[in-house]
Amino acid sequence: MSTVLISGANRGIGLELARQFATDGWNVIGTAREPGAALGLAGLPNTRVLPLEVTDAASIGALVTALDGEPIDVLIANAGIAINLNAKPIEVTRDDFLALQETNGFAPLALAAALKPNILASERKIATAMSSLMSSIAANDWGTQYTYRASKTALNALWRQLAEAWRTEGITCTLLRPGLVATEMTGFNGLPVEVSVRGMKAVIEGLSLPDGGRIIGYDGTDVPW
Ligand SMILES: NC(=O)c1ccc[n+]([C@@H]2O[C@H](COP(=O)([O-])OP(=O)(O)OC[C@H]3O[C@@H](n4cnc5c(N)ncnc54)[C@H](OP(=O)(O)O)[C@@H]3O)[C@@H](O)[C@H]2O)c1
Repeated sequence: MSTVLISGANRGIGLELARQFATDGWNVIGTAREPGAALGLAGLPNTRVLPLEVTDAASIGALVTALDGEPIDVLIANAGIAINLNAKPIEVTRDDFLALQETNGFAPLALAAALKPNILASERKIATAMSSLMSSIAANDWGTQYTYRASKTALNALWRQLAEAWRTEGITCTLLRPGLVATEMTGFNGLPVEVSVRGMKAVIEGLSLPDGGRIIGYDGTDVPW
């Protein structure tokens, strides 16, 4: 049985990813900042809930210890935040900028780096992270979301670098684009989460080494850089 580890799996896209992989017979490790409150996640079949605050190195270290070398076939670095999306340039704060860079950019890299031995020990060896159309500089004809966009663009750069660095070791590092999805992050506007996740799950299951470094949408199309 293959194992998927999903960060931020207590709600939104992460919870639906856990639900669809678990229902399909995968072994699911879902992380949550408050595992005791992650009742929907804990109630899924074949699913273990582990604590993780992605911006805390000690928390990542505790996760690695708890996994004790267990193979992770697919990492989905999904946990992310959006703050003050409609802030005008004069309203963009250094604190918001840095918080987004930390959670959406740095944390996925730190998590993947810490779990590299687990990924290497698996059969599939896939590391994915949740990007966004908002990450694209080429497709940006819509002047909003300064800090969120910059954080996902940083994630793309870091993940692309991982893809190049780890390719020779057989690890496929690919970025995912969920589309605009109806979750708490979007005020529940957009695609039903089931639709986005069904598409991304199909993408993930079809990944192989040449897909490393791509940004692939839930509909299978590439996001321009
Ligand atoms: N929804 C969209 O339209 C959309 C579009 C493009 C990309 N994305 C990306 O998809 C991912 C999931 O988004 P979503 O819509 O499902 O958002 P969401 O409903 O707001 O859920 C975010 C998840 O991330 C977790 N999280 C946030 N900060 C964390 C931290 N520091 N440590 C651990 N967990 C943390 C949250 O945990 P708590 O419950 O503890 O806060 C929650 O489980 C994000 O990376 C987002 O940027 C979403």
